[in-house]
Amino acid sequence: MSALRLARAATGRGKIAKFEGGWHGGQDFLLHSYTQLGGTADRPAAVADSAGVPPEVTGTVVTLPFNSDRAAEIIREHAEDLACVIVEPVLGGGGALPAERRFLQAVGDACRECGVVLIADEVITGFRLAPGGAAGLLGVRPDLTVFGKIVGGGLPVGAVCGRGDLVDRVLAGDDGLSVVAGGTHAANPMTTAAGVAQLDVLLENPEIYSTLEARGDRLRSELSALVSRLGISAHVTGAGSLWGFHFTDAKPANVRDLHGSDKVAARMLAALLLREGVFLSSPVHLAFLSSAHGESELDQIVAAHATALERMKTEGIV
Ligand SMILES: Cc1ncc(COP(=O)(O)O)c(C=O)c1O
Repeated sequence: MSALRLARAATGRGKIAKFEGGWHGGQDFLLHSYTQLGGTADRPAAVADSAGVPPEVTGTVVTLPFNSDRAAEIIREHAEDLACVIVEPVLGGGGALPAERRFLQAVGDACRECGVVLIADEVITGFRLAPGGAAGLLGVRPDLTVFGKIVGGGLPVGAVCGRGDLVDRVLAGDDGLSVVAGGTHAANPMTTAAGVAQLDVLLENPEIYSTLEARGDRLRSELSALVSRLGISAHVTGAGSLWGFHFTDAKPANVRDLHGSDKVAARMLAALLLREGVFLSSPVHLAFLSSAHGESELDQIVAAHATALERMKTEGIV
């Protein structure tokens, strides 16, 4: 919310753009086109995800297609009114779907060309995939980046970082009116201490990233091999320590590709995995490895999938 306000204050423009399948929290502007899809794959329409979002707010939202060449085109069309584009470099709740490098760079180029503020939402990916965030990994430099979760050591937190001329508007704008960014929980000393301690651990142990990356790669490749061996229609997605398991015919690149996925099968898989001692935080979309998961836990996760999927296949569910 603060990042959007900074972008609007800096550009003097009113509209914001987000991608289909992007989750950025529960505030009205960004509560669009996450689960509710409108328009076409190339030209999505903004649709509110919740009752109670005023239609006039929906009128200020431009929805963009994820992993599509059309996104840059639509940004250019709306340039005059568009304050910012916000993007998760890896769609998290949208299904652990990584942005393609070429796509994200084209979005970044269009934003720069049109004076549109590019906001990377790294609430999940920030300090999880790399110290420079997932956008950095994909060769894109956002104007603003929003963080959460890890920067607070797991305690409730939100942080907006980025270009000095943008964030300094919290102190005072050109006309003397500053951008308000704060609240009861802002700059909470306990959260800040937990965040600093967490970042210290990551700085002192940079091998955490390469280890997590290698374990995530191993998990994705072993689960994909299992899917091929069993001959079932499913695909494993993700990046680094994030993964998604989707019952789809083709590998999904965006949420439209997930629309027809078998979510009943996904829930059943999650239930069967639980019986094998593997708990997925979100059965249908997204799962996480942490640095506490070692090779033996990976063995267990893969073996549990084998047991669960073999049973589902025997019973004709997949
Ligand atoms: C990528 C992403 N952005 C933003 C948010 C919103 O964070 P909060 O619920 O703290 O506003 C979330 C929450 O999970 C998230 O996953």
